[in-house]
Amino acid sequence: MKSEYPIDQTGEIFPHFPVVLTTIGDNIITLEFVQFFSFESPIIGIGINSDNYSHQLLKEEKEFVINIPTTELIDEVKFCGNNSGRNLDKFSATGLTSKPSEIINSWLIEECPINIECRVIQEERIGNCDWFFGEIMKVHVTEDHNRLNALLYSGNSAQDFKLRELK
Ligand SMILES: Cc1cc2nc3c(=O)[nH]c(=O)nc-3n(C[C@H](O)[C@H](O)[C@H](O)COP(=O)(O)O)c2cc1C
Repeated sequence: MKSEYPIDQTGEIFPHFPVVLTTIGDNIITLEFVQFFSFESPIIGIGINSDNYSHQLLKEEKEFVINIPTTELIDEVKFCGNNSGRNLDKFSATGLTSKPSEIINSWLIEECPINIECRVIQEERIGNCDWFFGEIMKVHVTEDHNRLNALLYSGNSAQDFKLRELK
């Protein structure tokens, strides 16, 4: 027996998916809209609301780094998801360490065990976000990274969400 569920709350019952810290230029934004779109030609898409400063930056830069946070970085993830970089340096504010990326013009977050450098190859407007599809140019990973230590997201918006550990 199944009952009907409110369409606008589907995010509450959908399986959890990862949350990432994305660097664009000198800024950091927390994103849950992140998805692999192709494995053979490795392409990852990120969805960014056009009100966000990162949207404007990405339109200009056309490059981004996906940094995969661990559960220890939950406070930094929340900070970068609740404060705009328009008038704030999120690296200084959070104490996260920046290291120059190698292929593109942005920063790797040292505390994140995985950093994926991407260059935008396509953009699409879907709902209230623009999706930027990036070709993976370079991946950096620590030897001891543990994918079970990822932060997972469930919810329906940036205001109404839960973050949980995978393990
Ligand atoms: C857990 C979480 C997930 C988020 N996911 C997204 C997302 O996928 N896309 C988006 O545009 N904003 C998302 N946000 C909101 C932005 O991170 C937030 O608006 C941020 O302050 C924008 O920063 P900026 O103005 O420096 O770009 C999320 C926020 C949180 C807390």
